[in-house]
Amino acid sequence: MDFSKITELTAQNECETEKIGEDFAKSLKAGDIVAMYGGMGMGKTAFTRGIARGLGISDRVTSPTYAIVNEYYGNLSLFHFDLFRLSGADELFDIGFDDYLTRGGTCVIEWFENAEGAYSPDYEVHISQGIDESERKIIIKKVK
Ligand SMILES: Nc1ncnc2c1ncn2[C@@H]1O[C@H](COP(=O)(O)OP(=O)(O)O)[C@@H](O)[C@H]1O
Ligand SMILES: [Mg+2]
Repeated sequence: MDFSKITELTAQNECETEKIGEDFAKSLKAGDIVAMYGGMGMGKTAFTRGIARGLGISDRVTSPTYAIVNEYYGNLSLFHFDLFRLSGADELFDIGFDDYLTRGGTCVIEWFENAEGAYSPDYEVHISQGIDESERKIIIKKVK
């Protein structure tokens, strides 16, 4: 699939969301920033789990809410951030975010809005509720 512009997809369940993440992972390269948007429980972490699979990572991705960042190593490294508890971009500098950009991996960031303005992402992924309880609309935008 071509993710070079804007792609709008529908997932009927968690598996399908993961599968879309897995396909999308093939367009990622070292240093890319992926900003994930969507409320609590929309499937941002599920999508990231798919990205990990697509990058050849065998560890199961879980929510890094308390750790801020989890690191995984595959064909390309994955640095999975959850900025839910972040109070501003300053804190992102404090945890050494800049270093992650040059460590040969891709940074996937949940709650990127909490650090808005500091960095511009390469991709935005927006997940929203569909008509059925387990349906999700997924929009993937290449922004850089
Ligand atoms: N289509 C779907 N895609 C992703 N998750 C779904 C879907 N339908 C139901 N779910 C459920 O929604 C929750 C998503 O959790 P999670 O990925 O942790 O969300 P977030 O990281 O956005 O808070 C899971 O409990 C999952 O089983
Ligand atoms: Mg999450």
